[in-house]
Amino acid sequence: MTHRIAVIGGDGIGPEVTAEALRVVRAAGVEVETQEFDLGGARYLRDGEILSDGVLDELRSFDAILLGAVGDPRVPPGVIERGLLLKMRFELDLYVNQRPFAGTAPGHSQPHDFVVIRENTEGPYVGEGGVLRRGTPNEVATQGSVNTRHGVERCIRHAFELAETRSARHVTLVHKTNVLTFAGDLWERTFNEVAAEHPGIGTSYNHVDAACIYFVQDPHRYDVVVTDNLFGDILTDLGGAVSGGIGLASSANLNPARTGPSMFEPVHGSAPDIAGTNRANPTAAVLSAALMLDFLGESTAADRIRAACVDLPTRSTTEVGAMIADRVRD
Ligand code: IPM
Ligand code: MN
Repeated sequence: MTHRIAVIGGDGIGPEVTAEALRVVRAAGVEVETQEFDLGGARYLRDGEILSDGVLDELRSFDAILLGAVGDPRVPPGVIERGLLLKMRFELDLYVNQRPFAGTAPGHSQPHDFVVIRENTEGPYVGEGGVLRRGTPNEVATQGSVNTRHGVERCIRHAFELAETRSARHVTLVHKTNVLTFAGDLWERTFNEVAAEHPGIGTSYNHVDAACIYFVQDPHRYDVVVTDNLFGDILTDLGGAVSGGIGLASSANLNPARTGPSMFEPVHGSAPDIAGTNRANPTAAVLSAALMLDFLGESTAADRIRAACVDLPTRSTTEVGAMIADRVRD
């Protein structure tokens, strides 16, 4: 079966790393038909297009979207992020951001293996708020966080369903219930209710500040971690840092209800400082493509790709891509 993939290389190192990811997918023998979409900072600067509703509708017809990175220093912060990346997450209802972390943290001898389930359509990312009297001494800025029972529950359900498939069978809720008492209460009650439906799954709760310590000092305690959009954003950079570096961190923006395509992208950004120099590590993009293959029912190929991504030497983007491709071909 041929999978139809929309490819958005995006900005900076994005196009370089997605090219390697596709090379590896093809080397693994998976049939894909790709269509490139020229979107991102450069496109915006050229003709003002970020992501029109027409293009968004085109994207809906694909089986999956593979994205490199978005963000361009020549464009004010937030324009491309909100107009392209967040628009896709919201409009395609990619309500789970699943980010796996496997590796050996600095100072540890045993590898850890856990997954962060980040809520991906709510929290402060909805952009609720505003500014009054901008630039004056009486300026006011508010930035709200939206948490709905529906949004929180479907994310927590996904975490428990994932834990049912894993050997450690444990879910940790991460929040800040001692300060964010309104949202924290909704998350905690919903977590406890869903947990009661999964008696075989162990549960725990960590405040997000404590979780930052445990991610570094005791990452082995985690199996599935579920948290809100902003905590998940921050924690997953830390997760990457303790799991071999952000150059290995992959992510899946999932619509588990499958009402449209899901989107797969590395956790890292566009790294404009090294764009075009063939120095970016393509492994995170390759591992994101493996998550895409899992979701498309190609788990055998995905497992082969993951197995090929261990013990890679530090080389150029294209050399690392070619090396992984050679390993999956053998
Ligand atoms: C991520 C990124 C994005 C986010 C940015 C680029 C808007 O940091 O995918 O983690 O904050 O979600
Ligand atoms: Mn981030």
